[in-house]
Amino acid sequence: MTRTFFVGGNWKMNGSQAFCESMVQTFSGQATDNVEVVVGAPSVYIPYLAQNLRKDWAVAAQNCHQLDSGAYTGELSAEMLLDVGAKWVILGHSERRAIFKESDELIAQKTKKALSKGLKVVFCCGELLEEREAGQTQQVVNRQLNAIVQTISPEDWQNVVIAYEPVWAIGTGKVATPEQAQEVHAEIRNYLTTNVSEAVSANTRIIYGGSVNPENCAEIGKKTDVDGFLVGGASLKPSFVTICNATA
Ligand code: G3P
Repeated sequence: MTRTFFVGGNWKMNGSQAFCESMVQTFSGQATDNVEVVVGAPSVYIPYLAQNLRKDWAVAAQNCHQLDSGAYTGELSAEMLLDVGAKWVILGHSERRAIFKESDELIAQKTKKALSKGLKVVFCCGELLEEREAGQTQQVVNRQLNAIVQTISPEDWQNVVIAYEPVWAIGTGKVATPEQAQEVHAEIRNYLTTNVSEAVSANTRIIYGGSVNPENCAEIGKKTDVDGFLVGGASLKPSFVTICNATA
């Protein structure tokens, strides 16, 4: 089974209209073959990017509510994001878990709702440094995955990409070694075999995130169970295309 390489950019709370216009120009015409590229932008820029970004790339939101509508000031629903051209949504990011206190259960409800409405999901998981140092990495990742395994259907998995993002590597410059990434990715794949199915395990892309840059992406990307990247800071630069072509 060949899994199409997947590279997501996560702009987080960065950018401007001028920045979007500049990046649309920068990225247009750059060769990115045999890779699925998704740009995760702040919601206010989704309409512009969905209209103007190269058509072989897609736009992702960075969050969505678990309900369809209602008195939830400031929130956005999956249908609203689809309305303005988002095809994907990033859910379970460690910053949503830590800063906004999103629980495994809430993230599972958001994932189920997003999939049910037609959004594809980049589901983020990963351990804290103290959890890794305590030998709890797999236990933490399995707990986070359990929440969606219990909630979504086997068919839903075709629209899910799993992003393993060790929290200690996010924004720190301390990228996981290729061996560290491969070890956890292989464990995630085994978890999917055991708890969902062999087919879901074989077909689901498992991508790595945490201080990925043009210099370190090729070595990590060579690993058997690394199917791509979720890129933060380095996705805000023209050299993001280098990461997209890491395994070209
Ligand atoms: O979602 C990707 C992000 O958490 C990784 O951030 O800046 O370490 O690439 P960064």
